[in-house]
Amino acid sequence: MEATTDKPVVAILTIADDSHSFRGNRSNFADLIQTGEQMGFVTYVVTTKHLKLHASRVLGFTYVTDDETWVQSWFPRPHVVYNRIPLREDERLPRVRRKLTALSRQPDIRLFNRRFFNKWSLFKWLNENKATKSFIPETRKLTDVSVLASLLRKHKTLYLKPVRGKAGVGIMTVTVQLEKRSPYRLQIQEEKGSKTYPCSTMNRLWDRIVKQSDILGEPYIAQQGIALAAVNGRPFDLRALAQKNGAGKWEMSGIGARVAGDSSITTHVPRGGNIDDPEKLLVSIFGKEKTSKVLLKVHRTALSLAKQIERSCHYRLCEMSMDLGVDMTGHVWFFEANSKPMKFDEPHIRNKSLERIFQYSLYLHRLKQTSKGGASS
Ligand SMILES: Nc1ncnc2c1ncn2[C@@H]1O[C@H](COP(=O)(O)OP(=O)(O)O)[C@@H](O)[C@H]1O
Ligand SMILES: [Mg+2]
Repeated sequence: MEATTDKPVVAILTIADDSHSFRGNRSNFADLIQTGEQMGFVTYVVTTKHLKLHASRVLGFTYVTDDETWVQSWFPRPHVVYNRIPLREDERLPRVRRKLTALSRQPDIRLFNRRFFNKWSLFKWLNENKATKSFIPETRKLTDVSVLASLLRKHKTLYLKPVRGKAGVGIMTVTVQLEKRSPYRLQIQEEKGSKTYPCSTMNRLWDRIVKQSDILGEPYIAQQGIALAAVNGRPFDLRALAQKNGAGKWEMSGIGARVAGDSSITTHVPRGGNIDDPEKLLVSIFGKEKTSKVLLKVHRTALSLAKQIERSCHYRLCEMSMDLGVDMTGHVWFFEANSKPMKFDEPHIRNKSLERIFQYSLYLHRLKQTSKGGASS
């Protein structure tokens, strides 16, 4: 193991849980701790409750690989805090928000991942820049039936999505076929597969949508539906992971593909989707030569999207995953970005993503030390 003296102490932040001590993806946390230790960092899990900002040591958890157990103990105060609070609801609790705000103002701590994104802000931000605008499907806030009507005049398929959604929960699609007796077809994502409701008029369609979105109690966006490239009739999209590297610059850590399950309107793995190799899928549609061009475009697009999102959100970002679509012409489309990326199951992406967290933490730490030196001289 390397010396730890010049390396920052990295705390993985989550929220306390009455029955399991803390919430979050434990195998992800265990992998992080293991990677951090191998790279010579002191790293541990801490809850918002136990992270006392004025104390010199904090009560955290570490993972003991040999016994596969979590052990509570005292650790030095962190230099870098990696926010992995798993749920939006938890992050919105007043006491958690206060702690995150206080953390972001702490001069000797760097907060990594300020908060979750919401889909509407993302589209506003990306529309502010000519370079990123062309990758965004037309998107409006779904406030009343006129929004629906006007979008349906331009696009045959729409996606309706809760602004704070994840994992496909609450997603609906609308398709129009004016020659049919029930020209509007509403499809609602269910636990597995989806349910279809034919509607004879726009107003009936609207009533059904309102009923459904009320269940979630969340505002929705309506978005131009993109006809995704498909292999054997199954559409797929790309999951790209952008992270800052040891030099503080955005870099792609990897791109994976998710193929939609039968009768699902999204590509999420828990909904019957599966992982595949993006290059293989793209080659079977576009051939080798065009595939390299498409992949290069995906790569460049993802980086410019990450930079624009960071510019617009006005706080430092460190990593994000993005859901991107490719249509049959090879055009790249942005669906959403996640500031708390889920684990990538592809081992080559996974390993790189874990290491980058610590490489970037080190960069942040050194940056702080140099700026401190600069201020005193
Ligand atoms: N406008 C769209 N056109 C085509 N497919 C879409 C569109 N929006 C979403 N999808 C599909 O649905 C999936 C989930 O949408 P996403 O915006 O990522 O929501 P969630 O937060 O639930 O993951 C996407 O990965 C993509 O496969
Ligand atoms: Mg998604």
